[in-house]
Amino acid sequence: MYRLCLIWIGLMSVLSPASAAVRYVAASKLWILETGKTSYALGINELNAVQNVYWGKRLAREEDLSAAHTPRRFAFESDESLANEEYPGWGGMRYAEPCLKVSLDDGTRDVVLKYVSHQVSGEDLEIKLKDIRYDLFVVLHYRVFPHNDIIRKQVSIQNRTGKTVLVESAQSGVWYLPEGDGYRLSYLTGRWAGETQLNREPIQPGKKVLESRRGNTSHQANPWFAIDYQGAADEEHGRVWFGALGWSGNWKMVVEQASNRQVRVVAGYNDFDFGYSLKNGESLDTPPLYGGFTDQGFGESSRILHRFEREQILPDRAAPHVRPVLYNSWEATTFHVDEAGQKQLAEKAAKIGVELFVMDDGWFGQRNDDKAGLGDWSVNPKKFPNGLKSLIDSVNKLGMKFGLWVEPEMVNPNSDLYRAHPDWAIHFNDRPRTESRNQCILNMARDDVKEHIFSVLDKLVSENNIAFLKWDMNRHFTEPGWPEAAVPEQRKLWVKYANNVYEVIDRLRAKHPGMEIESCSGGGGRVDLGILQRVDQVWTSDNTEAFDRLSIQNGFSQAYAPKVMMAWVTDVPNMNGRSTSLQYRFLVSMMGSLGIGANLNHWTDADFTLASRMVGYYKRIRNTVQQGDLHRLFSPLQGELTANQYVSKDGKQAVLFAFLHSQQFRYPAPTIYLRGLDERALYRVESIDGKLEGKLKTVSGSYLMNRGLDFKLGGDFDGAMVILERVADR
Ligand code: GLA
Repeated sequence: MYRLCLIWIGLMSVLSPASAAVRYVAASKLWILETGKTSYALGINELNAVQNVYWGKRLAREEDLSAAHTPRRFAFESDESLANEEYPGWGGMRYAEPCLKVSLDDGTRDVVLKYVSHQVSGEDLEIKLKDIRYDLFVVLHYRVFPHNDIIRKQVSIQNRTGKTVLVESAQSGVWYLPEGDGYRLSYLTGRWAGETQLNREPIQPGKKVLESRRGNTSHQANPWFAIDYQGAADEEHGRVWFGALGWSGNWKMVVEQASNRQVRVVAGYNDFDFGYSLKNGESLDTPPLYGGFTDQGFGESSRILHRFEREQILPDRAAPHVRPVLYNSWEATTFHVDEAGQKQLAEKAAKIGVELFVMDDGWFGQRNDDKAGLGDWSVNPKKFPNGLKSLIDSVNKLGMKFGLWVEPEMVNPNSDLYRAHPDWAIHFNDRPRTESRNQCILNMARDDVKEHIFSVLDKLVSENNIAFLKWDMNRHFTEPGWPEAAVPEQRKLWVKYANNVYEVIDRLRAKHPGMEIESCSGGGGRVDLGILQRVDQVWTSDNTEAFDRLSIQNGFSQAYAPKVMMAWVTDVPNMNGRSTSLQYRFLVSMMGSLGIGANLNHWTDADFTLASRMVGYYKRIRNTVQQGDLHRLFSPLQGELTANQYVSKDGKQAVLFAFLHSQQFRYPAPTIYLRGLDERALYRVESIDGKLEGKLKTVSGSYLMNRGLDFKLGGDFDGAMVILERVADR
């Protein structure tokens, strides 16, 4: 029966063009891009430009859409500026943020793009545009992900003018919201130890610029946005348009409400200090820009992104698997690592169920603090007289995989590498080389530097049984010079650097297929959909204090899947002086990909017992947390409670985490209504800590979602967890 169904679905998709993900309707000159629940339509207007026509909930009938049509002229505006062009160049009478700005070598700085041709193939659409005078082409690539309700835009700028063209701004595209005002923007900002803080504010006339000028994605802003209609959406309801950029270099997102009350989001390479010269025949590809729509609120917009990341972005997308429980030595030992100390920690970690043991900074060169050693990736013989082998063998014998910290893009001036190749560091001639954390950045845009880094890492991984690299990057760019390159090429550094980081990771993974990678940049400084295509997880923040983590994780989860969100249980008092119980710290970390970063040498027997128990629970629920649907029930940004619920893909298990920040006036914690369950199914209720009120054993989904659950939470920083197993359908 199942087979028959598949054949039928297959036949239908061949026979009925109306079910294709991309269709061209010749009569109205419209392309309709369709996902399961959304439609995106664009067409050729009277001016022969490609214009956006619709983005929102899936439309039942394409005939209802009229052809692209330039709006009525308005004094001081032009038809083209009002037309919601899919890829406006800076040229003619256009004043909103452009997608493309170029300078030709005869001094011309005007580009006006018109439709030339298109090609539809399966889930892909390519539209070719050309400047009205020059052979400067722009190919718009659209990819529809029908099952994920996501559309990807990517653009290729091709110079066939016979001359050199300087690209001054290259954006991946623009998303247009339905006309009108009253929209609200959600976005993520922060800083080191305070990443991914969620902001919400009304969109007003003018521009809001989110960006990084720091060379990588940055802690300060993250390339994700969500816009809701009338500022009325909540976690469960309301229209939300959202998007994210897949780029780990300088990026920019401009949210603009133009004078015609048109809200638009332009995103791509940051055009600040940008300059990418294209010789005749050369082209420049922009990063991928993703977008989606839901009418079911912020919760669903996040779940769409999470599913999309798991199924289309992450390296294990073809066969997703759960992340291992990890131990990392950083907070326990800092730079003071050695064979005996790491072995001791490894033995203790293995006892509580850790599956991946990661040795952090300090194992190489003269790395005794952060002043020396970066660049010299050979094992420090004093700390590891037997090389890494003896430690790795012990870790493996304990049943764990071994992982290692590296920071390949960096160099301390106090290192053999810097002494041999001072010109490899990013710099301007005769200018200071600002150090940050006592280090400079190797110019990965240079092919010789890239090859060096590849071969160092390749050797390290080939010679040792390394299953995992924590790839760190502990500073941002300054003095971004590349004096060895010809002047017109020097600013390519911004793009080539990030692309070469990608290339090294891709080549390493191809050569060492079993090896996994975590992206870290002094915490969460390099988290985006570009790096996530090539790493399995990211380090969320160097701030591992559990209460602070609630809001960092809340922001993170707006855009990124809990599966990639590394969360460690560490010691208290933590960096801000706060102390919380070990149980609370475990519960917070169990909402993502669990790690332990505490100094196990300081733990009591009771700590080990509790930790083993919690790791045991985590292994029971991790498939649900990592691969299931997240419902944010109470936000840490409002009120005294935070609550998150996860429902497994097959609906058989759900997990609820609840945290009370600080009880006042003896008020009981508010009732928590669950979501995403089957009203008629029965669930066995297991309160792992006895904090659930009442003696519930087996209850219906209807009870859980409508009557809800109450908890005995009190004092400061209390937490609870309930596991629900679906036992029967009523
Ligand atoms: C960064 C990382 C930490 C740790 C240190 C090591 O700060 O975010 O987790 O690896 O570097 O120097």
